[in-house]
Amino acid sequence: MSKKGGKHYDSGKKILILGGSGFIGNAIYKELCNYFDTYGTYYTARKSFEKNQQFFRYDMTEDDIFPLLEKIQPRIIVSAVRGNFAAQIQAHQHIAEYLAQHDCTLYFISSANVFDAYSKYPSYENDKTLSESVYGRLKIRIENMLLRLPKEKTAILRVPMVFGNGSPRIKEIKKFILENEPVEVFPNLILNVTNDDKLTQQVHYLINRNKTGIFHLGSKDLVHHEDFIKEVVERIGSFNPIYKRVFTTNEDRYLAVLPKDHKLPKNLQMSYQEIIDHHILS
Ligand SMILES: NC(=O)c1ccc[n+]([C@@H]2O[C@H](COP(=O)([O-])OP(=O)(O)OC[C@H]3O[C@@H](n4cnc5c(N)ncnc54)[C@H](OP(=O)(O)O)[C@@H]3O)[C@@H](O)[C@H]2O)c1
Repeated sequence: MSKKGGKHYDSGKKILILGGSGFIGNAIYKELCNYFDTYGTYYTARKSFEKNQQFFRYDMTEDDIFPLLEKIQPRIIVSAVRGNFAAQIQAHQHIAEYLAQHDCTLYFISSANVFDAYSKYPSYENDKTLSESVYGRLKIRIENMLLRLPKEKTAILRVPMVFGNGSPRIKEIKKFILENEPVEVFPNLILNVTNDDKLTQQVHYLINRNKTGIFHLGSKDLVHHEDFIKEVVERIGSFNPIYKRVFTTNEDRYLAVLPKDHKLPKNLQMSYQEIIDHHILS
């Protein structure tokens, strides 16, 4: 341990964040960079990152991930990319091969959508995954690839919708309000939620403690999408937006990932109300 910026700095744990320029990847980078030797990749976000020595340009559709891994030799890889599905599968296949041969663990940001074919209940870590969406099926495919590796090699982090002050979801709502465009709500959808601050604290904790396995990282309670969004809008200011109520089914539908076997310490758990109260401010 050495000290950097007054904080304890664990130079032994090199971390590489794929998608380090994205909303979630960059939030994780900012959380970890004062504690670990942290690197990130960017793709199109050149302006903000090309002069940053900790960042490397990586295009999944063009570049093999191996040379980057060999160059950085990370002990931890965090995968927070979006983009071409075939390229994502290939990149994670190569990462899996790298993990098998090196002292390295992957933290894969997965999604509540791996359960989007089950609508009647919330889902727990060891429930069987099943998805009706191409996005959910991609996540399942990568998860299954990782689950074939020894348990200490991977952590699968299933995340519900991520909000927070600077999140694309909140920015979009603010834009719709200001432009008098309708804000979409799903009255039948019951979900749990998180924000960038809580998620990054949780990832930090998991990495610090060398935790692996499957984790469900959302609020401990559930809320109707419509109620949540309306309360968020009230916090943004005294606006009266038009709501577009989108019904995808006749009955209530759950899209929620709750923990049962892998609960985090109390200070890292939160309610959806805390997500509204503490983090979504105008
Ligand atoms: N946001 C949510 O509510 C949410 C919820 C559950 C799970 N997730 C998962 O969390 C992960 C990150 O999501 P996000 O919301 O942070 O997405 P995002 O802001 O769109 O970030 C995506 C990242 O992927 C990079 N990328 C895109 N195309 C690429 C390519 N061809 N090659 C290499 N990198 C490429 C982007 O780089 P540039 O920006 O530099 O182009 C960016 O760093 C995703 O796996 C997503 O499925 C997100």
